Amino acid sequence: MSEENVISVTSSSGSFSWNFDSFDSEILEKKTAKILTFSPNNNEDDMRALGQELVDSLLKENVEYVIYKIAPTNFSTIHLLEDLGFRIIDGSLKLISTDLDGQENKNITTAHSEDLISLQKLASESFSQTRYYNDPLVSKDNANKIYREWIKNSLSGEAADMVLIWKEADSVCGFLTLDKNGRIILIAVDKNQRGKGIGKALVKSALAQFKKWGITESTIETQMTNMLALKTYHSCGFKIIESYLTFRWSK
Ligand SMILES: CC(C)(COP(=O)(O)OP(=O)(O)OC[C@H]1O[C@@H](n2cnc3c(N)ncnc32)[C@H](O)[C@@H]1OP(=O)(O)O)[C@@H](O)C(=O)NCCC(=O)NCCS
Repeated sequence: MSEENVISVTSSSGSFSWNFDSFDSEILEKKTAKILTFSPNNNEDDMRALGQELVDSLLKENVEYVIYKIAPTNFSTIHLLEDLGFRIIDGSLKLISTDLDGQENKNITTAHSEDLISLQKLASESFSQTRYYNDPLVSKDNANKIYREWIKNSLSGEAADMVLIWKEADSVCGFLTLDKNGRIILIAVDKNQRGKGIGKALVKSALAQFKKWGITESTIETQMTNMLALKTYHSCGFKIIESYLTFRWSK
């Protein structure tokens, strides 16, 4: 979430950049970073040399845990990452919609601080397909904690501009977080309430909100294995535009 301290290196072999991730570092209790770019010159020797320079740069800053999202067709870099000890932990898709004719729903409101406990419970139960749960180096407790903190930061305005909720009997049974860049960030519906149209209603409310903000394009990312999320987005007019693999390196 928070992006700071970008380290950019240019050498005779190419260039790369990465930054520290203070949110993940705090919860995972490991100095964590994200690789932003990796652009070797177009030959095998430079690619290997730049890969080693990247790892050296991470080690020099005592980074212990690194994430890199890369196109699944970039085979030469993927094979290099494997040789450097990176492991695949996720596959995701990015979707886009320019048809923002959403629909407000009387059951959907914006969340307030009194909804936090209920939101945190739902958030920590909902995202078992994501990279935090896929990675054997992250405990389930820490993965749950990531989502409890993430929804808290969303409610405070740090990690989202709005949190929409569907509430029944004082309990949140669905939520969606969105920002003013047109991103739908997190969406979840309570297991016992799924398949009743709540997910679609939340997405359509988000689209209506984007239109109010004057936004013309909305994007979402989700796991390529998350068929129910993909079905929900597709039926709200989203189309797949990109795919990524997520690799992780650990000291
Ligand atoms: C994705 C999610 C939010 C969908 O919520 P939901 O309230 O169940 O969705 P809806 O009832 O609105 O259904 C959406 C679409 O999926 C279909 N669908 C729902 N459950 C289904 C099932 N078990 N099998 C097949 N299709 C199903 C619906 O028919 C609908 O499609 P349609 O409009 O073409 O008929 C919910 O599954 C969830 O919380 N998953 C866990 C959290 C998650 O993965 N979030 C996304 C990543 S951030």
